Amino acid sequence: MQPSNLPNIAIVGATGAVGQTLIALLEERDFMYNRVTALASARSVGRTLQVRGQDVTVQALDTFNFTGTDIAFFSAGGSVSEKHARRAASEGALVIDNTNAFRMDEDVPLVVPQVNATVVDQRPASNIIANPNCSTIPLVRLLQPLNDYTPINSVVVSTYQAASGAGLTGIDELRRSAGRVLSNAGDADTDNTKFSDPLGFNLIPSIDRPLQTGFTLEEQKMLQESRKILGIPEFSLTATCVRVPVLNGHSETAYIQFANAVDREEIVQTLSQAEEVIVFDNGPGTISYPTPRFLKDPNQVHVGRIRVNPDDARGLWLWLIADNIRIGAALNAIQIAETVTSQWVH
Ligand code: A2P
Repeated sequence: MQPSNLPNIAIVGATGAVGQTLIALLEERDFMYNRVTALASARSVGRTLQVRGQDVTVQALDTFNFTGTDIAFFSAGGSVSEKHARRAASEGALVIDNTNAFRMDEDVPLVVPQVNATVVDQRPASNIIANPNCSTIPLVRLLQPLNDYTPINSVVVSTYQAASGAGLTGIDELRRSAGRVLSNAGDADTDNTKFSDPLGFNLIPSIDRPLQTGFTLEEQKMLQESRKILGIPEFSLTATCVRVPVLNGHSETAYIQFANAVDREEIVQTLSQAEEVIVFDNGPGTISYPTPRFLKDPNQVHVGRIRVNPDDARGLWLWLIADNIRIGAALNAIQIAETVTSQWVH
């Protein structure tokens, strides 16, 4: 492709955890573009970022006009997307939005390329594509091939979500909080703002805001988004989402109830054949699992502890981990961009 045929891209939230990873992935994946613009808040204007070895000066989102931008990645939080994403889309940019702002809007496709890339065969009229929640993405990447193997009746999931899900300030808050516990200053550990409780050496079963149902918004997102991505409106899934003192990498346990009895070896085989999935399995009688701190490949979903309930051959447990900043956000966004640039953006 000639440079003039390559997309001009903008990264909104370029100084943040997801934005910085998007920038790294542009180089790692050799994503071809003509021009890149880095956007953030007024606080960061004038900062210089390195993008593929080039200096790029951060500009203010508030005053940036997206005319001439082909793809805009938004990773600056829901309120920023609510304020600016529809404007960017109407100025002509295809918005790939990482936030919860538009995921359930009917005119916005919710895309995990390994699962439902066909929903973006054509440009959506809204000019916005949503990136799902960071815990939903790796889960549906396993549920879809399993549901193709034999239909799933229901899923019960618990998540163990890392501090990085709350951005760079979330990581800082965990480091500070853990440091205080280690230095026996635990009682002074009260300046948490990103998390509802101090996270160091703690577990917090509350992510995002509470709902009347007694669930949290994060838990509801997992249900609603799974239904939309899998294209099964009545899909049955229930979740408990827990913030854990891990810097990066979301883990999940899932208990999957199938319509029929399942064979463990066939499940292992099915997951081994899924795209960009690493299966940890040394056969029955052994325990094989990934851990979030030592992921083999941050660009793949890791799954282990695959076992059938001895009292119910239709019930399967598994343990999965994915780098939430990559698979749960930046990598999925780039893979959406790769899907559409190969089809209809330039
Ligand atoms: P800034 O660095 O200027 O605050 P993280 O999720 O790691 O906390 O990163 C959030 C990202 O969103 C940062 O790049 C941050 O920029 C950006 N951001 C936050 N608020 C705004 C805003 N009002 N307008 C534009 N960008 C924003």
